Amino acid sequence: MQRVYVYKKFERFWHWSQALLIFFLALTGFEVNDSIHLFGFEKAVLYHRVASWLLLGLIVFSVFWHVTTGEWRQYIPTFSKLSAQIKYYTYGMFKGEPHPTHKTARKKLNPLQAVTYLGFKLVMAPLIIVTGLLYMFHRSIDANNMVIVSDIPLELVAYLHTLGAYLILLFAIIHIYMTTTGITPLSNLKAMLTGYEDLEETSDDNSNDTTNNTII
Ligand code: HEM
Repeated sequence: MQRVYVYKKFERFWHWSQALLIFFLALTGFEVNDSIHLFGFEKAVLYHRVASWLLLGLIVFSVFWHVTTGEWRQYIPTFSKLSAQIKYYTYGMFKGEPHPTHKTARKKLNPLQAVTYLGFKLVMAPLIIVTGLLYMFHRSIDANNMVIVSDIPLELVAYLHTLGAYLILLFAIIHIYMTTTGITPLSNLKAMLTGYEDLEETSDDNSNDTTNNTII
């Protein structure tokens, strides 16, 4: 085992602020939806709008960070060991079998995580963002008659936005459960809080490329 710096400062800030914002958006959104009652409808609408702009700002910064640091490559999907990973999560780990893949600073995500997080970024996030913006600007976007948004019924926009919200909640529940399947139940959580994780030493760690082990 060796102590490795896996998650950099910005990455941890982005992860936790995104988690908080999504949680808050779910609370306020489901109040707009009349499913829960916490802040009152008017305040829930206001808070939901403020939080959604904060989330959009955070997404812009995180896209910039992923592109400029090259960390976007972590999400490139691979079929290599994907079935072994699925077999591990559905069967192997309950039998005490070892993890089929090894986590390193340069390869933080196993094949199943990479494809799931990519799905989050390419399907769930765009669905909730596009429908959220359509919801917000339903009356005003088509002022120039070029984009006729008011032809799309608001009910449909609200339905798709709520569908996105349920998908994100489902993702969050599975995500939280999966975080407990690391080397110890809390090792993944601790790593995302402190940045450091005790990982098994592999030949990959001994390579000359130390860029990802640098403390920022
Ligand atoms: C950039 C992201 C988002 C934008 C722009 C956005 C925008 C909106 C808008 C404009 C509304 C209508 C209420 C209002 O006028 O404020 C709304 C409702 C709602 N939002 Fe969001 N939202 C976003 C993210 C989220 C997230 C992450 C969730 C939950 C995980 C969520 C859940 C909901 C729900 C459940 C409703 C009620 C839908 C209905 O039944 O009318 N939203 N959102």
